[in-house]
Amino acid sequence: MALIAPSILSANFLNLERDIEMINASEADWFHIDVMDGRFVPNITFGMPVIAAMKKKAKKPFDVHLMIVEPEHYFEAFAKAGADILTVHIETSTHLHRSMQAIKALGMKAGVAVNPHTPVSLLADVVTEVDVVCLMSVNPGFGGQKFIANTHQKIRDLKKIITERGASTLIEIDGGVTLDNIEQLISDGADVLVAGNTVFSSPDPTDTIKRLKSAGK
Ligand code: DX5
Ligand code: ZN
Repeated sequence: MALIAPSILSANFLNLERDIEMINASEADWFHIDVMDGRFVPNITFGMPVIAAMKKKAKKPFDVHLMIVEPEHYFEAFAKAGADILTVHIETSTHLHRSMQAIKALGMKAGVAVNPHTPVSLLADVVTEVDVVCLMSVNPGFGGQKFIANTHQKIRDLKKIITERGASTLIEIDGGVTLDNIEQLISDGADVLVAGNTVFSSPDPTDTIKRLKSAGK
C-alpha cells in the first residue's frame, strides 16, 4: 500500500496546529516538510525552530526534504528538531555516500532527492545505502506546479535499478501529485506520494487524503 505524505508547505501557517491535528487524525502516513534556503532553490521557507515546534503536536514521522546547499552542516540540528527521514539533493552532494552514512548514524532514515533533469542512473552505485529516493516531478521551490510527465519513465527506470541492486529503497514522488495521476504513479512503482496543493486547496483535506490513500490500496 502506498504512503501519503501531505506537504506542510501548502498548510495554513497561521493555523499550523490545526493542520497538524488534521493530518494526525487523517489516513496520512508522513508529514512532508520542505526546507528551502533561497540558494539551492529560489524560495525560503522555514527551519529547525518551526520543525521542533511542530514535532510537539505531530504524531506521524517527519519526512524532511532539504533544498539547501551544503546540507551536511545541519544533519545533527535537523535530527534534534525531530526529522525521522532526512533527504538531501544529489545536486548538492559531492559525497553522497558519506552523507547517507552520516544521516543514518544520527538515527534517521536517509533520503536522496533528484531534480527533473538529473538521470536516475546516477543512483545505481549508492542505492543500497538509500532508504528513500525522492523523485522531483516539478522543479523544486514552490507548491502547486504542474507535474512533469517524464517522471513516469523515471520511476520505472529507478525501480529497475533498485531491483537489480537488491535494494529495498522506497520511491517517493514530489510535486504535482493529484487524484488524477496517483494511480498511474503507483502502478509505475511509486511507494510514497507527496501532496501539497491537492490536499490543502481542497474543500475537505481529510477526505482528499482518504481518497489519495485509497488509490494506493
Ligand atoms: C516543491 C516541494 C514539494 C511541494 C509539493 O519544491 O518539494 O514538496 O510542497 O507541492 P504540490 O503537491 O503542491 O506540487
Ligand atoms: Zn518536497
